[in-house]
Amino acid sequence: MSHVVAVANQKGGVGKTTTVVNLAAVLASLGKTVLVLDLDPQANATSGLGVEPKAGVSLYPALIDSSVVDDVIVGTSVENVNLIPAEVNLAGAEIEIARMPDHLHGLAKVLEPIRHAKVFDFIVVDCPPSLGILMTNALAAADSVLVPMQCEYYAMEGLSVIAGLVERMRTGGANPKLFIEGIVMTMYSRTKLADEVVEQVRSHYGDLVYGTVIPRSVRAGEAPSFGLPVVAYAPSSPVSEGYFNFGAEFLDRFNIRASLDRKVDLPPQPASSNLA
Ligand SMILES: Nc1ncnc2c1ncn2[C@@H]1O[C@H](COP(=O)(O)OP(=O)(O)OP(=O)(O)O)[C@@H](O)[C@H]1O
Ligand SMILES: [Mg+2]
Repeated sequence: MSHVVAVANQKGGVGKTTTVVNLAAVLASLGKTVLVLDLDPQANATSGLGVEPKAGVSLYPALIDSSVVDDVIVGTSVENVNLIPAEVNLAGAEIEIARMPDHLHGLAKVLEPIRHAKVFDFIVVDCPPSLGILMTNALAAADSVLVPMQCEYYAMEGLSVIAGLVERMRTGGANPKLFIEGIVMTMYSRTKLADEVVEQVRSHYGDLVYGTVIPRSVRAGEAPSFGLPVVAYAPSSPVSEGYFNFGAEFLDRFNIRASLDRKVDLPPQPASSNLA
């Protein structure tokens, strides 16, 4: 089955979409087949992968009337990265899904046949910056959650909110197998503050934090206007080097987990006392 990883943080602008498109591209370069699922009505992952958002070409029709989802999978600017685009109508899906029975598991049901088809090794979900229905549906459908976190002072607070939500998804039964894949620190610049934040997050969350820290670079901001992940747009820039290293680390962790009995080797979870 495909491994579904939701890239989530309810805070806006922390590097979710940049992480989604670059992780997808790096995994593809390492020989994996990847499907990106853009769940954010802003459609930044869609345009960042060189695809123009179009009404009707998203998960929206499938989410509200269970139509066939294969129709909306498209190719992207990156080889071996496919995409289910987002569209602005997805914003309305929040309200429509909320009215449906078992509204938490709509996305999980829609994704089920794609996961079982085993075409994609990874399904990477770009979540919107909110704690709404689309994000909770992503968490209910995912195997794991990857949390990008900006190297700035209030980042920790945001992290405890998402960690708390993951904990509730697990203990409340909505998704008992969900775990935090890891925390990736983004937009690092060599300042005392950034160093302190990284150190603080590491001391709190230990091995959950990836060794690679993604540096801040103007290249990362330029790449989306060319419809490319920065690893394709400027492969030798430091930010790309960061994403290549991070992608390799991500895959290593995945492979180590797969080679062990997952039941006894879930990544460490933050202690409940740390949760918001
Ligand atoms: N490493 C980086 N260096 C410099 N700029 C970056 C970096 N990563 C992301 N950015 C820029 O920061 C902005 C926010 O990044 P991104 O869109 O990935 O965040 P997000 O969490 O998906 O935002 P949203 O919550 O709005 O969906 C974008 O303009 C992006 O190009
Ligand atoms: Mg985004």
